Amino acid sequence: MARHLITSAIPYINGIKHLGNLIGSQLPADLFARYMRARGHEVLFLCATDEHGTPAELAAAKAGKQVAEYCAEMHAVQAEIARGFRLSFDHFGRSSSPQNHALTQHFAGRLDDAGLINEISEKQVYSHADGRFLPDRYIEGTCPNCGYDKARGDQCENCTKQLDPTDLIDPRSAVSGSTDLEVRETKHLYLRQSELKDQLDAWIDSKSDWPVLTTSIAKKWLHDGDGLRDRGITRDLDWGIPVRKGTEDWPGMEGKVFYVWFDAPIEYIACAGEWAAANGLSDADWQRWWRTDMGASDVRYTQFMGKDNVPFHTLSFPATLIGSGEPWKMVDHLKSFNYLNYDGGQFSTSQGRGIFMDQALELLPADYWRWWLLSHAPESSDAEFTWENFQSSVNKDLADVLGNFISRITKFCRSKFGEVVPGGGAYGPEETAVIADVAERCARYGALMEAMEVRKSAQELRAIWVSGNEYLQSVAPWTTFKSDPDKAAMQTRLGLNLAHLYAVLSAPFLPDASAAILKSLQVDEAVWPEDMNEFLSQLKPDQAFVVPEVLFAKVTDEDREAWQARFSGVRQS
Ligand code: 2FM
Ligand code: ZN
Repeated sequence: MARHLITSAIPYINGIKHLGNLIGSQLPADLFARYMRARGHEVLFLCATDEHGTPAELAAAKAGKQVAEYCAEMHAVQAEIARGFRLSFDHFGRSSSPQNHALTQHFAGRLDDAGLINEISEKQVYSHADGRFLPDRYIEGTCPNCGYDKARGDQCENCTKQLDPTDLIDPRSAVSGSTDLEVRETKHLYLRQSELKDQLDAWIDSKSDWPVLTTSIAKKWLHDGDGLRDRGITRDLDWGIPVRKGTEDWPGMEGKVFYVWFDAPIEYIACAGEWAAANGLSDADWQRWWRTDMGASDVRYTQFMGKDNVPFHTLSFPATLIGSGEPWKMVDHLKSFNYLNYDGGQFSTSQGRGIFMDQALELLPADYWRWWLLSHAPESSDAEFTWENFQSSVNKDLADVLGNFISRITKFCRSKFGEVVPGGGAYGPEETAVIADVAERCARYGALMEAMEVRKSAQELRAIWVSGNEYLQSVAPWTTFKSDPDKAAMQTRLGLNLAHLYAVLSAPFLPDASAAILKSLQVDEAVWPEDMNEFLSQLKPDQAFVVPEVLFAKVTDEDREAWQARFSGVRQS
């Protein structure tokens, strides 16, 4: 038994995420966590909301709420939706937790002690009316290029010209509208990432099993990008983790907070602390997952994220960990994803384009979405969601193959033998052949799941379902029954045992369907097959079962057209 620490990139707090976000990290991470648990490994699967930064402040202001209140509410909303999708986090934390405050301040202190922090003076716009420095995007004015009167301090939306706040004509605060602004000197902390370049390079080189997508992005930033430029890790915002050196004040940094991308990955660690606190466990209990001096050297740590997050996880966060000089567990495997597009364009949170997680669950239960998303995961390239493809995948894979198999075998058994596993007959060559086939496929499926080959795993799982369908179709117990009821009983018994197998193997993809099949077969505990012959003889003659409800309804053409129309525009709220 191994120990698996699994984290998903933590979603921003500002709003409900779309299906592209879901398949980019949380869902594949859940698949992997469920699989590893099913194989008997010890798993700690963590995720959280990413609550700091300007977007959180802006979203709260738009909602007319205090930021803390807004974040608490949105955390609850996101947690509920995660439950709806059956994301099996051991803990769904918050980057605003006291644990993350303490740990982020601790790391900053360690980095400073190691000489890895520079204090740099910069010029920034201060608003007297608001009593604060304004980030560039909080300053509005007239664009010097096109005359647009709502240009932002970082860019003009109208002509797209990149701007500095001091370029704006008649600048004003976007927070209060005040024009009482002044350019002032302000100090910020910079993490000297460049000092760690060689160590990071060597660390990345040691990861020979990382996917090309991951290493190529990391190496690009390390060698020819701006990724290793010293990085500002503080901001002049109200909301965030106050800048402190461990537990001490940081002279000159009063009123400032850490930059959201500094504290967000630290939340992966803090979240383990939150998990321990929420479960009455001790510090040692979470540290055995995170500190190599506390037992974490035998942990295998896997991170899941979209490709845009890769530089932060291969360079910035490791720089924080390495720079601290403390024995933190570093990521072993980093699984990154390309983008999922929506019906000929991009999913977009800011534009409300695509299907959002709450809306998806209003249409259909989690398993339908889980199956489509995972079986079309954007692994080797970007992928595209279309309603036609979704309809065909649900109908062909879930309804016609898996659903049909379960319904056919249980209903046939009930009609001829009653709701009990029938006895009699002995396996012949057809049975030996199908058992060998599913055994071989099951081994392949396990290897693909282990390797986090999400799409290929889905294909292999489907092939295992198909194998049972083909077996039933070819031995046709409904025909056999007329001449040889004993033989038909044996075929039916194997069919029911295959249904049991499908419940167990499908659980990481389709947790609800799997639970429904197990319940109907009256199997209390799902145990992964080790020996296929043994597994497929677990449901014994005379054991009772109940025919389950329809597992998967087909998506009709009318459904598809109505949904397509409903989601063709942009989300209003
Ligand atoms: O891209 C995002 O959604 C970020 N909120 C991910 C942060 S992941 C980590 F660093 F915590
Ligand atoms: Zn302009």
